[in-house]
Amino acid sequence: MTVNRGQWSSQVGFVLAAAGSAVGLGNIWRFPYMTGENGGGAFLLVYLLCVICFGLPVMLLEISLGRATQRNPVGAIEKVAPRSSWRALGFLALLTGLCILSYYSVIAGKVLAFGALYARSLVTGGTVTYTGVTPEVLFYFAVFMVLTVLVVVGGVQRGIERWAKILMPLLLVTMIAIIVRGLFLPGAMAGVRWFLTPDFSKITLTVVLNAMAQAFFSLSLGMGAMLTYGSYLSKHQDILRCGVWVVVFDTLVAVLAGFMIFPAVFALGGNPAAGSTLIFEVLPRVFGSMAGGGLVAVVFFFLLCVAALTSTVSLLEVVTAYFVDELSWSRARTVWSVGIAAIVVGIPSALALAGITPWSTVHLFGREGFLDAMDFLWGNLSLAVGSLLLCVFVISRWGLKRAADEIESSSRRFRSLRGVWIFFVRWVCPISIAIILAAKVIGWS
Ligand code: TRP
Repeated sequence: MTVNRGQWSSQVGFVLAAAGSAVGLGNIWRFPYMTGENGGGAFLLVYLLCVICFGLPVMLLEISLGRATQRNPVGAIEKVAPRSSWRALGFLALLTGLCILSYYSVIAGKVLAFGALYARSLVTGGTVTYTGVTPEVLFYFAVFMVLTVLVVVGGVQRGIERWAKILMPLLLVTMIAIIVRGLFLPGAMAGVRWFLTPDFSKITLTVVLNAMAQAFFSLSLGMGAMLTYGSYLSKHQDILRCGVWVVVFDTLVAVLAGFMIFPAVFALGGNPAAGSTLIFEVLPRVFGSMAGGGLVAVVFFFLLCVAALTSTVSLLEVVTAYFVDELSWSRARTVWSVGIAAIVVGIPSALALAGITPWSTVHLFGREGFLDAMDFLWGNLSLAVGSLLLCVFVISRWGLKRAADEIESSSRRFRSLRGVWIFFVRWVCPISIAIILAAKVIGWS
């Protein structure tokens, strides 16, 4: 066993770090924009089903494989199936992590920029105008990446665990304050109704694919993040309990984000289907309508930055764990190298966000702009493919019995759920994911 891998100091430590990974821009930026573009209540319903049917089972699968092998994604696969072509799945996971990290940090940089702008206007009393010109976007993107690097250099416990402890509950409290303000705006109830009433005619294949991928994205599944975090979990910590907590908490934050955005969209005028800029258009209006809104804005954007940071940390940690475990690189050298690579990969996304043609106008995979295309390729397709292949890998190579034993070894309650879980991982997840992906590729609706 490697000596210096580190472990969470407690079960709470793991739950906080895993929840920190899960809760982030995926809940507060991506979930509302996906819901807005994919039919409101109908999307919410399909999303919740996907969380239960795919999210929770795959979550337990990833954590159990990580804890059993005590490795990063490539190492875990190598340990179960030495020198097999399954290794490629591990590398796909690392590549996906790097690519998500790249554009995710661009959006996180924008959140940071908004926080800084509101803070400045609090001090100077001036108005808030986000220009979003190229140097500004690139600057905040780079700053955010450096912050991520600095946390990951600090190592698993010191770097990651500490962050989530106080600030996540604070984020929830701030969101609730913003929700309450939004709900009291005239016309807000139309938004609540739109968010909660499913219009079944809106459920198309694209909606289902987006909801499924959103579940994987939001829960940090499909690229070995939970696997890697699970590898720092000790043998007597309860995987089932931890997994359920993370899923419930993450879903709660996403639903709250919906309540934060949609009533305001309907009350203050705006288009729910505005796309990836949705929260950046709506929230400033809410803050503008709020007594002391400037201060709430600073607090909110700061906390959202921290939530995004605990997510980017997990993305960077996965790639880092590979180089440190398998190639014996030093931690600091790896983290800085991967961070710089992610900046390079992220530059086109940053240019797209800054509105520079052709980056902001290219049409790829049915999305407009390079950033949205990256999000579709890595945040949607690759995570779904990764989750599917992970199921197949465990079924065919490691064995679901071993996976279930790993979970059961520390969770008595899992005994009664074991059969259901195996059924989902063996049949429901792989077959449904494969059908949804295949239908999308064939171009069926
Ligand atoms: N789940 C995070 C969010 O919702 C993003 C994230 C972190 C992620 N690590 C991941 C997404 C791994 C997919 C895979 O903001």
